[in-house]
Amino acid sequence: MAAKLNAPVDAQIELTQACNWRCRHCYNYWRSAGTTTKPGRHLSCENLFRIVQELVTNQVPSITITGGEPFSQRREIFMLLETAERAGIHASINTNLSLVKKEDIEKLANKHSNVSILFSLLSADAAEHEHLAGAPSGSYVRVIEIAALAIQHGIPVSLNMVLMRENLHAMEVTARLAKNLGVRTFCATKALPNAHAPDSAFLLSAEEVHWSLAELMRIEELLDIPVDILGCYPKCFLAGTPAYQRFSHRTCVAGYTTVTIGADGKVRPCSHLETSYGNIFHKPLADIWQEMDGWREGEFIPEECHGCPVVTACRGGCRVNTLTSGLKNMDCYADTRRLVGLSQERLVSHLSEEISDIPTKVMVCPQVGFRNEPFGALVYRTDPLAIVLVNHSAVVFLKTVAEKGEKFDFLSFLKRSGARTKSERKNVERLYQKLIRKGFLIKPANQQERRK
Ligand SMILES: C[S@@+](CC[C@H](N)C(=O)[O-])C[C@H]1O[C@@H](n2cnc3c(N)ncnc32)[C@H](O)[C@@H]1O
Ligand code: SF4
Ligand code: SF4
Repeated sequence: MAAKLNAPVDAQIELTQACNWRCRHCYNYWRSAGTTTKPGRHLSCENLFRIVQELVTNQVPSITITGGEPFSQRREIFMLLETAERAGIHASINTNLSLVKKEDIEKLANKHSNVSILFSLLSADAAEHEHLAGAPSGSYVRVIEIAALAIQHGIPVSLNMVLMRENLHAMEVTARLAKNLGVRTFCATKALPNAHAPDSAFLLSAEEVHWSLAELMRIEELLDIPVDILGCYPKCFLAGTPAYQRFSHRTCVAGYTTVTIGADGKVRPCSHLETSYGNIFHKPLADIWQEMDGWREGEFIPEECHGCPVVTACRGGCRVNTLTSGLKNMDCYADTRRLVGLSQERLVSHLSEEISDIPTKVMVCPQVGFRNEPFGALVYRTDPLAIVLVNHSAVVFLKTVAEKGEKFDFLSFLKRSGARTKSERKNVERLYQKLIRKGFLIKPANQQERRK
């Protein structure tokens, strides 16, 4: 069972259901097959204000503004950014960029310097992109110009290429474009089935996904560009491949660390699914979150996964990959045969990259936040979002050294952890390494200088 958090870490806010593009792969459940979005609902400024108040009450540190196309509601998006910022909530925006104006970029850069952008591009080939996105001719050029402008203004911009059969061939050339633009991360995300066309022919086969992950790792090395995937795969699908270590950190976070708040106020564990557990305008978020307990308690982990050595980390892969067969079924990419002969120790140790260069002294990164939880605390950073869960003794120690800006080493961390047995000590060592790997513990500045 996954550790239970008091509240989500990130809330996706669907500012509007409207969109000017017609991506046929788009997962927005309110689309009907092959058709356009109706005028669509959107969240008013007043309702956005109420949402932010609920997020503050529940200490949610981060939001992702999405839709539909959020820039079709210009007034509301800037009001939301301002309100969230005042409340100390970090915001990032998912957008197709096509409606963003030069003035918007200036406003974002000058007034909302913490915001980051993830934009969708389906190919570096203009005609291919516009065809797959159902976007009017000229959209591609506009998007690239705006992305370049945003990057020039110092806004962290990442590119998301949704992978389908038709655009797989364009991965490298699109990554090259991303590199030339200067994006922060090139994300290549397998298209998930959508409710209005769950059996679509554009979805990748298991072989194609394996190829895309290997290709992404090749691109990372070839172009020296940070890459990522935004979905997750069952661990047994990746087991035995180099991608296991590289991409296994991605697990399903629906109802576990994230929720989606729809343009109608309905709160859902997953953006891709229509299932809601209550409306934020009629019920406190804390109560809705409680209703989603099943997502954290393993309600949707398939029967076949119980007893799997990595079920706690995997949680059965992605629930959207079961859209045609039912939420409690196996992820269509799961392949338990790949686990045969692999020891649990090996599988678990390969889930996290070993750190070769552990600094002798470390300190807590100043951007780190803490939120009390029943088991201890959630330790988080918001840009890019990263979390680590720690127990009571670890959080007392981390908060104290963070407040004082104190430097410490592994031995003092271990001593304060209260670990007695060998396996407890091993767990503390894993936690310490994880905190370093995720950037929560950093080398003190003077140590960094001396090493240069
Ligand atoms: C629904 S869109 C809304 C924001 C904005 N209109 C955009 O396209 O970026 C949010 C994200 O989901 C991605 N996306 C859309 N359909 C998808 C699918 N079937 N599978 C995986 N990702 C998808 C988009 O590329 C985008 O990064
Ligand atoms: S631009 Fe975004 S919201 Fe619009 S159709 Fe494409 S994926 Fe969906
Ligand atoms: S058997 Fe289930 S829990 Fe285990 S790796 Fe496969 S999908 Fe994940």
